[in-house]
Amino acid sequence: MTKKIRMGMVGGGSGALIGAVHRTAANITGDIDLVAGAFSSDADASRAFGVELGLAADRAYGTFAEMFAREAELPPHERIQCVSIVTPNDSHADVACAALSAGVHVICDKPIAGHLEDALRVARAVDQSGLLFGLTHPYVGHPLVIEARERIAAGEIGEVRRVAVSYLQDWLSRAEDTKASKQALWRSDPARSGEAGAFADIGTHAFNLVEFTTGLSITEVAAELRTVVAGRTLDDDGAAMFHLANGASGLLSASQVCSGALNALRIEIYGDAGSIFWAQEAPNAMTIKYRGQPDQVLRPGTNAGYLSEPAIAACRTPGGHPKGYLEAFANLYAGFARAVRDYPAHGDTGCASVADGVAGMRFIRAALLSSRNESAWTRLDGGDN
Ligand SMILES: NC(=O)c1ccc[n+]([C@@H]2O[C@H](COP(=O)([O-])OP(=O)(O)OC[C@H]3O[C@@H](n4cnc5c(N)ncnc54)[C@H](O)[C@@H]3O)[C@@H](O)[C@H]2O)c1
Repeated sequence: MTKKIRMGMVGGGSGALIGAVHRTAANITGDIDLVAGAFSSDADASRAFGVELGLAADRAYGTFAEMFAREAELPPHERIQCVSIVTPNDSHADVACAALSAGVHVICDKPIAGHLEDALRVARAVDQSGLLFGLTHPYVGHPLVIEARERIAAGEIGEVRRVAVSYLQDWLSRAEDTKASKQALWRSDPARSGEAGAFADIGTHAFNLVEFTTGLSITEVAAELRTVVAGRTLDDDGAAMFHLANGASGLLSASQVCSGALNALRIEIYGDAGSIFWAQEAPNAMTIKYRGQPDQVLRPGTNAGYLSEPAIAACRTPGGHPKGYLEAFANLYAGFARAVRDYPAHGDTGCASVADGVAGMRFIRAALLSSRNESAWTRLDGGDN
């Protein structure tokens, strides 16, 4: 039997939001064992939580620095091969750089860092180490999102002309929401979230979804970022017009103050021959429309022979069995585990790359600069960002 990939985790302690999702996603692959971790900024809580998860007590560490140092002393066939980073944004870069200099591959949650400069530091460390880096934008793990990318690349909707993408939530709609959970507290704090609020937290998902599906880079933005709820310093609502590398136009909205919106990520991509619509709250349907013809609705499934090979490969069950967020997340882990197993044969982790992470930070920086400059068009590769 093939041995599983040995993974460590940083963050994701008791009461954390996304750490448990990563552990579940890694489990779904059947290819990854969580064998070590530093789960909390409190060393005692970290050790206790690791033991609660069933780790050997001597591999439930107090800090990530201790974990990387002690793991390196273990024989190569025992030490962790990769680490999953699920801490708040401000520590991603430090943890990633520590992992890479300890010879450990990295799978990291988004955004890649709090600030563009830290993202560039991670990119240099990935480059110097030659190790794997995957960024988890889980929505691109959905079979039908993969299908959208495949069909657009094959020219099925023609040349992309316009994209409308929005990611709307309501959990920060009121002033009291800012202090209602630790997740809200750090996301509203520039020292922990980084240079942006909602645009960093969910705007980067929308950005990544556009670039993933169209295969085109966003080159410039004209943005308005707002702080709607009094008492906050970071944006909780905003919109950016953008241009893609082929000259197409788009509009990206990201807001956490839209009452009644749960996790409303939706994308519409219009080409000169047809269009595609997908919404993550109903991820098992993708609509393709052609002028003068009835809508086509595509469904995911291992037996959906009309889908592309990569989309079918992202399904675990036949059609009619709903596929969801956790399975999309697991598809990222499956790709990452394959790349770790094959390393250095190929660098394709199936996740967003370090370059994608840097692009997401350039998008945030350009949107902030534009917003401060009366929504002037601002290039993502501009000299000032
Ligand atoms: N991909 C997604 O869909 C998605 C969804 C939610 C959150 N996220 C991202 O995941 C990250 C975590 O978000 P969250 O909502 O789970 O936060 P959270 O506050 O719920 O959990 C963060 C955890 O990290 C721990 N931690 C903080 N500093 C640490 C350190 N130095 N060492 C070890 N542990 C430390 C905390 O104790 C806590 O357990 C953020 O970057 C966020 O943007 C991504």
